[in-house]
Amino acid sequence: MSIDPVERQLFAEELSVEAGLLALSYRDQDDLEVRSKGVLDWVTEADLATERLIRNRIATTFPDDQILGEEGLGDGQHIRSAYSTWVVDPIDGTTCFVSGLPSWCVSIACIDVRGHPYLGVIRDPVGKETFSALQGHGITINGHNISVPSKGITDGLVGVGHPRNAPNQPTLTFLQGLLSLGGLFYNSGSAALALAYVAAGRLVGFYESDLRAWDALAGEVLIRESGGWSTRFMRDGSLATSKPVLAANRGSASAMWDLAGDVLEGCSSPAQDDGQ
Ligand code: IPD
Ligand code: CA
Ligand code: CA
Repeated sequence: MSIDPVERQLFAEELSVEAGLLALSYRDQDDLEVRSKGVLDWVTEADLATERLIRNRIATTFPDDQILGEEGLGDGQHIRSAYSTWVVDPIDGTTCFVSGLPSWCVSIACIDVRGHPYLGVIRDPVGKETFSALQGHGITINGHNISVPSKGITDGLVGVGHPRNAPNQPTLTFLQGLLSLGGLFYNSGSAALALAYVAAGRLVGFYESDLRAWDALAGEVLIRESGGWSTRFMRDGSLATSKPVLAANRGSASAMWDLAGDVLEGCSSPAQDDGQ
């Protein structure tokens, strides 16, 4: 069994395409079974089947690795003896998925024995785009390297997500500040895809006050490798907890941080960033 990170990246890219095709095959079924986990919180057969496929492929190819998936059997503990822990959201943006909207994705990240995220792959099956990054190797979209110019907070749209079952005030505070600066917001309904868009330079930043590791980690690696800035999910929290996530183009990072205010207390800030 290989532990070469480049092989893991290629494996994750191919797996994300296969998983996206499987999810797509469910999307147009008239009798798709949709189960509610809470208000505006759905799980479908597509989420479960896609996660099952991802788990099986990883277990076969990397049997010593750990897997944590949103719909699955992981217990949120990072097993430090494993070389890698795969952190997977089979469909991020299930509300969009069940509503017939195009913005949902497959998100796959790897963290190493120290809990450090080093690989992130996000696949948009509808747009047929694979955003991929391995630490130290830059970011690619469908295999092409990209570079992202510096942008200020009013040079484009800022992604803002609002978590279900969480207080409204952190989101409202951020939006109030953004609008008073003359900025504009965009909610894709998929935090992971919005993070990929920040990495690609399509959004100048992204904020959501409460996310889980499977929403955040792949995007965090993409953003770091594109030269952007992001909070550090595994440093600020853990696989078992939810945390605020802020990510930005370098030209907008400080302004974005200021808008989020107290909710980010204790999180790694642009000022403390050591580039690791
Ligand atoms: C959700 C999406 C959404 C975000 C929620 C997440 P899910 O993930 O990323 O954009 O606002 O906080 O839970 O449930 O579609 O995998
Ligand atoms: Ca999610
Ligand atoms: Ca999900």
